[in-house]
Amino acid sequence: MSQSVYLPSEEFARKAHVPDIKAYRALYSRAEKDPEAFWGEIAEREIHWFERWSRVLDWNPPFARWFAGAKTNVSYNCLDRHAASHRKNKAAILWEGEPGDQRALTYQELHRLVVRFASVLKSRGYRAGDRAIIYMPMVPELPIAMLACARLGIIHSVVFGGFSAEALKARIQDLGTTLVITADGGFRRGKEVSLKTAVDEALNDCPGVREVIVYRRTGSEISMKSGRDFWWHDLDAAASEDCPAEHLDSEHPLYVLYTSGTTGKPKGILHTTGGYLTHITATMKWVFDLREEDTYWCSADIGWVTGHSYIVYGPLSAGATTLMYEGAPDFPRFDRWWRIIEKYRVNIFYTSPTAIRALIRQGEQWPDAHDLSSLRLLGSVGEPINPAAWEWYYRVIGKQRCPIVDTWWQTETGGIMIAPMPGAVPLKPGSATLPLPGVVPEIVDFHGQPMGDNREGFLILRQPWPGMIRNIWGDPERYKEQYWSRVPGAYFTGDAARRDSDGYYWVLGRVDDVMNVSGHRLSTMEVESALVRHPAVAEAAVVGKPHEITGQAVCCFVTLKRGDWNHDQLGNELRQWVSREIGAFARPEEVRFSDALPKTRSGKIMRRLLREIVTSNSVTGDVTTLEDLSVVAKLASQQDEE
Ligand code: PRX
Repeated sequence: MSQSVYLPSEEFARKAHVPDIKAYRALYSRAEKDPEAFWGEIAEREIHWFERWSRVLDWNPPFARWFAGAKTNVSYNCLDRHAASHRKNKAAILWEGEPGDQRALTYQELHRLVVRFASVLKSRGYRAGDRAIIYMPMVPELPIAMLACARLGIIHSVVFGGFSAEALKARIQDLGTTLVITADGGFRRGKEVSLKTAVDEALNDCPGVREVIVYRRTGSEISMKSGRDFWWHDLDAAASEDCPAEHLDSEHPLYVLYTSGTTGKPKGILHTTGGYLTHITATMKWVFDLREEDTYWCSADIGWVTGHSYIVYGPLSAGATTLMYEGAPDFPRFDRWWRIIEKYRVNIFYTSPTAIRALIRQGEQWPDAHDLSSLRLLGSVGEPINPAAWEWYYRVIGKQRCPIVDTWWQTETGGIMIAPMPGAVPLKPGSATLPLPGVVPEIVDFHGQPMGDNREGFLILRQPWPGMIRNIWGDPERYKEQYWSRVPGAYFTGDAARRDSDGYYWVLGRVDDVMNVSGHRLSTMEVESALVRHPAVAEAAVVGKPHEITGQAVCCFVTLKRGDWNHDQLGNELRQWVSREIGAFARPEEVRFSDALPKTRSGKIMRRLLREIVTSNSVTGDVTTLEDLSVVAKLASQQDEE
């Protein structure tokens, strides 16, 4: 297959941490020969440890312990060590709110605010091992809350502000949370998104939550329950400025982040301390080629793993200036992001293909009206980037000067796994290129046998890595079964991919019942469970439908209980219902009604057929196991009529 190849400019390569392909190969082969020595060296160089480890990796498949026995603290590594260095007065966080308000927090100031909030938590009795849910808008107090928890060893779980009260409740309950940290609301597209009301609703069924701490962002009227709810600023007024970072074991849990799996119940992905920190700090340098003077901006929301690893922990551990923006890219106009890049002289910009495609649609006049010459590197994450979007990003935003790092990874991997080192690896639009050192991918067939080049198969990872998922919260059996049972001894990613004859990886998408909508993972079962909770719905099947902007869109097939239903009205109601049950980002694009759903003889819904119907409008392949062929014919023909 022929395709364009892009090389970094000589100037970029000359200054890069990894300046050529030989240097990349040398690193890769060192990691391959002796992974423990390799990661041990990086951990030693990049991270501050209070006590050293005796063994780098304790691998009792599928359970890994990295640097076990060693003592460190993520908050210390992100703050104290920089506040005590030449970075003391360097901006750690540059923040812009949607209404246009701004803040710049130096390492020293961020350290002070985190210490104050940690001392509040400590004085209220929260200790290492307790669990806190953080449900906040994109304001600096969100990373402050995360870093304060990390300072004390309180396990945090950030719930994306777009999730509904129902979704929040499920996470609070699963995690056995005693503390919720939230805000009155946040701003999105000029409107207020209220958060505290969702917390109040969720807490009706969460008796384990002792306290709620509320940050005032919007200033609108909210209800505060006496004895349970406290204003952040009231507690801060009495805070101490002495709260040292706990010396935590390298395997102490840092956070649990819920993501969609193949069932209706989200999985709590557990990440721990030392290995995770080592992985994300190393990848900040390898992939983003970070330099001291850079202004780095990742446009994700901190509620997703990208924000955890590459807005908060990775950049701060590496001593970078990380920019945070609260609101929507198109508010008040389509050039908001380009304005921000121009205003803050952003050097590294990391975003998603969905965002790029949405901005392409608005036209080049928006970026063209701004000076984007500060940019030197662009990144992409969350879903495959189609070559046309890649080329636009390269030409219109990067002015053919900036390499694009297409980074493949997952909530479970903790950090980037397959991506170019931009000074070293020639780029091919649409490919995440080569694995990073210490990452050993393979493409296998249904039986776990390795496949030759240029053939599509399952993407697996052969070796444990420091940032890897340690467990599913409260469900080790599901952890073993989901990730480590398909191909014995290897990690199953759930993605399909192929490797070309240059060794480049092309990730094609999920092979399970997980959709990828705007780079967000969403399980078909989760949406189905939400739909069948509606009183009119008898049965539901959900599939991802290709979508020009969001990659995939949610398409629902629904059978109704007996009754006289107005389909148009009910379709709208069900879309609204799903958005209430899960969150607005899960809102179905399409709801189709049917008398029955296609099933196998054993009663399983044949999603493959439904996927074909929404993708190609026809059905091919084996349908002999269908219970009622007429059902498929009817569904397929319905589309013709529309
Ligand atoms: O299918 C892959 C896709 O996103 C999935 C992981 O989703 P999540 O855990 O939500 O994390 C997203 C941010 C890291 C993967 O299994 N994916 C992610 N990055 C890429 C990608 N697919 C293709 N190319 C990528 N660069």
